[in-house]
Amino acid sequence: MSLFSSRLTLLLRLVLVTLAGSLGLAAATVQAQTPARFADNMAERTRACMACHGDQGRAGPDGYYPRLAGKPAAYLHHQLRNFAQGRRHYELMTRLIEPLSDEYLGEMALYFSLLELPYPRPSANNVITPERLAKGQQLVTQGDASRGLPACTQCHGARLTGVQPNVPGLLGLPLDYLNAQLGAWQTGQRKALGPDCMAQVVQRIPADDLNAVSSWLARQALPANAHPAAQAPQGTPLPEALRCGSAPQLHGGKP
Ligand code: HEC
Ligand code: HEC
Repeated sequence: MSLFSSRLTLLLRLVLVTLAGSLGLAAATVQAQTPARFADNMAERTRACMACHGDQGRAGPDGYYPRLAGKPAAYLHHQLRNFAQGRRHYELMTRLIEPLSDEYLGEMALYFSLLELPYPRPSANNVITPERLAKGQQLVTQGDASRGLPACTQCHGARLTGVQPNVPGLLGLPLDYLNAQLGAWQTGQRKALGPDCMAQVVQRIPADDLNAVSSWLARQALPANAHPAAQAPQGTPLPEALRCGSAPQLHGGKP
């Protein structure tokens, strides 16, 4: 960690100590509010989150603190549970959400999912050959039948903007974040609610091709309709081995 970012971390700790109190209080009072008041209050109460995740959850400046705005509500809720229950790790944040009820985590998830903010232009400029980028595109849009790998679009939506209510989009994410998340699934640092289909997906992609996949994704602009799709594309059924505990409806289950 650089000197700058360790200073930043120290500063954030201070901010968190002051703001965590108001976040805790929030849980008790939020229920009595009407929807408009709910949004107002949530903006106040999630200030501690925005210290890292940027104003309105638009993402931090450096590809490390992910965007929250506009991601599917159940996906965000699952992630908060994942941090609280040890399937994802970031201690500073986990400490902040540990005391909150599951219901309140769901309310924060809903709040961020409803925020509509424009996406930044894609900014990936890592060195990679056009052949490798084409390989990345092929894996994302067609998969690799010889490895039992479906196209990413089969679960993440034809436009790759995610699928309601629990599959996130893959566009508008910085290269560093994509690489970090795929790498974390590879090493077991990130897990989803089991069965963990993404762990299976990552296992089926050679390490070198993972970089091609994230490099291609991080170069794509969002389509005009950047919202998560209502449902996954119909067609080829997903392999049984790729059941997703956090997205049962991909296999015809209830969300
Ligand atoms: C100290 C900085 C910090 C604070 C404060 C913080 N987060 Fe985070 N959050 C992170 C980091 C870093 C990650 C990504 C960790 C990783 O690499 O997996 C993250 C990830 C997340 C994710 C998963 C996003 C995704 O797309 O998978 C959610 C949801 C989230 N945070 C919500 C919140 C909420 C709600 C709050 C306020 C209660 C909050 N965070 C406060 C740093 C923070
Ligand atoms: C069988 C369905 C399925 C397939 C195929 C699939 N994914 Fe996923 N993916 C998911 C689900 C479900 C999640 C949410 C996991 C969770 O709840 O934590 C996810 C989450 C992710 C995330 C985390 C996003 C974030 O904001 O943190 C990334 C990155 C990702 N997938 C990349 C890919 C890529 C790249 C491919 C294609 C090579 C792919 N996925 C194929 C189901 C799938």
